[in-house]
Amino acid sequence: MIFSLAAFSFLALAGSSLAQGAYFAYPQNGATIVAGNITIKIDRPTPSAPTVEAAIGLGMSSCREEGTGELEHSESCPSPEVSFEYLFYAGGFNPQRPTEVHLGDDFNAFQNFTVEIPASMKGRAVLGFLHSSFGRGAAGYFPFYEAVNVTVNVVEPAY
Ligand SMILES: *[C@@H]1O[C@H](CO)[C@@H](O)[C@H](O)[C@H]1NC(C)=O
Ligand SMILES: *[C@@H]1O[C@H](CO)[C@@H](O)[C@H](O)[C@H]1NC(C)=O
Ligand SMILES: *[C@@H]1O[C@H](CO)[C@@H](O)[C@H](O)[C@H]1NC(C)=O
Repeated sequence: MIFSLAAFSFLALAGSSLAQGAYFAYPQNGATIVAGNITIKIDRPTPSAPTVEAAIGLGMSSCREEGTGELEHSESCPSPEVSFEYLFYAGGFNPQRPTEVHLGDDFNAFQNFTVEIPASMKGRAVLGFLHSSFGRGAAGYFPFYEAVNVTVNVVEPAY
């Protein structure tokens, strides 16, 4: 009995520490998206400690080709920690649990952001967000920061 309780709390801790951050539920890394209006879904799994959400900044940058010769050919995607070519949203983050869940959806708290992806983003691009919150512990409030990105392939709409 004692053993199984210990094992359970270990699993609970391991699971919650993995679920510390927020992530892109849509689009996911490697997705192809059509330029125009899309709804970005950011999931925020329940943090391990009581948490006060602070803010999120969501934006996007084109990946650029680098190097000239075929051998040096490579690609550079600006990090959301350094710059955003387009800033879609900067403000409060207020993830809410879904009121209804459809087949294939998850149960995490989330917030949706409808943004317009410019056609000039055509090709590979990095979509990213900066997120900050405060975890509440016995000794006070502890800031949490993260930078999260996905690389997507933007295509033009077919008219
Ligand atoms: C995106 O939505 C905005 C606001 O509804 C609208 O003005 C705009 O034309 C839409 N853009 C595209 C490419 O559909
Ligand atoms: C949130 O966005 C996702 C991804 O675009 C979409 O599937 C879902 O229906 C949206 N949910 C709500 C409540 O708008
Ligand atoms: C995107 O996130 C991954 C995983 O954290 C990281 O390794 C990579 O450097 C990030 N890419 C950019 C362009 O910030």
